Amino acid sequence: MSLPNSRSAVDHPAGQPTAGATGIDAEPGLPLDRPRLRGSYWITTFGCQMNKADSERMGGILEAMGYTPGSDEHSADLVIYNTCTIRDNAEQKVYSYLGRQALRKRADPNLTLVVAGCVAQQEGEALLRRVPELDLVMGPQHANRLASLLERVEGGQQVVATEEHIILEDIATARRDSAVCAWVNVIYGCNERCTYCVVPAVRGREQSRLPQAIRLEMEGLAARGYREITLLGQNIDAYGRDLPGITPEGRRAHTFTDLLASVHDVDGIARIRFATSHPRYFTERLIDACADLSKLCEHFHIPFQSGDDDVLRAMARGYTVDRNRRIIDSIRQRKPDAAISADVIVAFPGESDAQFRRTLDLIEAIGFDQVNTAAYSPRPNTPAADWSNQVPEAVKVERLQEVNAVVERVALHRSGRYQGRVEEVLAEGVNPKDPTQLMGRTRNNRLTFFPAARPEGPVHRPGELVRVRIDTVRAFSLSGSLA
Ligand code: SAH
Ligand code: SF4
Ligand code: F3S
Repeated sequence: MSLPNSRSAVDHPAGQPTAGATGIDAEPGLPLDRPRLRGSYWITTFGCQMNKADSERMGGILEAMGYTPGSDEHSADLVIYNTCTIRDNAEQKVYSYLGRQALRKRADPNLTLVVAGCVAQQEGEALLRRVPELDLVMGPQHANRLASLLERVEGGQQVVATEEHIILEDIATARRDSAVCAWVNVIYGCNERCTYCVVPAVRGREQSRLPQAIRLEMEGLAARGYREITLLGQNIDAYGRDLPGITPEGRRAHTFTDLLASVHDVDGIARIRFATSHPRYFTERLIDACADLSKLCEHFHIPFQSGDDDVLRAMARGYTVDRNRRIIDSIRQRKPDAAISADVIVAFPGESDAQFRRTLDLIEAIGFDQVNTAAYSPRPNTPAADWSNQVPEAVKVERLQEVNAVVERVALHRSGRYQGRVEEVLAEGVNPKDPTQLMGRTRNNRLTFFPAARPEGPVHRPGELVRVRIDTVRAFSLSGSLA
């Protein structure tokens, strides 16, 4: 929907029509011939990898429109905040950033101010009331429509795009931060209903991309020199549920396992990762595929959220602690050295001290390589936010500190197994703290620093697979020498 622009202070140029508005497919509105100059842009991204991937696509669209990357947030002609609302502190951060830009806009009406992502979807029009200086509020399903939305802004409208939308294939080339590793969305949205989570409300229903589109994007990336692909979905094992077709054996025609098999042989891609897996849908078939496909890295991110069955039930996660353990056992049977990471929430409503201890015990017992932790944060329009058994703030803080200490200790112990080993590291870039060093990750996803060259030896470059002997281990990173 769009609102008439009632702000007298706003004085956008009338906006000459772009060649992209051909009437054939005005939707993405990309210029077909040379884009006109439109000034500089800046995107600040909050939140998860989905948002990072959306920002890279929006950056690509802006450059195709004629915008150039700006040098900072406070001088760019167009600023996008791609926002996250997973927890209250993530949301509040956005408002403080917006406050500063609103002030700038009052002094410089030519500034174009955009809020994209999950806060945009959650708040919609309410954001315009809170920050009337905004030009565009757009939910995550509208990221690939940025060009046509901005054209309406250029035409003088204040635009809110938050209606449920079938996500279009992106026809601009994403502007990616890395030249080595790339994200590729395979499924958008989430159909689960975890009682704490805003994601289904802000990202909408599951929408799987067609396998051909995913493969095509991967081939394009390989041709441009990318070596590692991370396939993305909120609940990636749900891939294909919404696509039509049944096999002669009576199975769904499109599953995530089939997708992996069908994209595995893209030439030039050396490594494939995926995130996030949901324990409810993780299958033996997927574990077998991971073991059989050589490019799939030995790292599995499987958020378990709690080590207590009653808490899991209250969260509506749809699995038990035991089921989660069996998945991990099964992975370790096939891939003994695999790294396992997870997300966990502490101080969920009603979580007792004993239940919290079960989460700590599970982290120790499994030996997670990495766990993202958070204290429960009540979110708008989620069931758990209204429950009367909320855990007091002081207990949240205590539990979070305690779980973090356990996570770090266990991770350090897990890192110990690399000591003295030779690991294959994909060089991703130069160590910002030491330009003689490169950094990258092992197949099991440990960040690793190593020298770019031996004295008189050839210099390694980002994009190369390098054999590194690990000399120093830390909880979440490693350092080594060239092997
Ligand atoms: N789809 C993924 C998670 C996506 S959200 C999954 O189901 O595992 C990323 C993480 O944020 C979640 O795994 C959870 O640990 C955390 N999270 C989500 N909602 C939260 C809330 N209300 N409070 C605290 N942490 C939350
Ligand atoms: Fe949120 Fe649950 Fe969906 Fe993950 S599976 S995004 S936690 S609702
Ligand atoms: Fe945040 Fe939205 Fe991702 S709420 S965690 S940016 S899906």
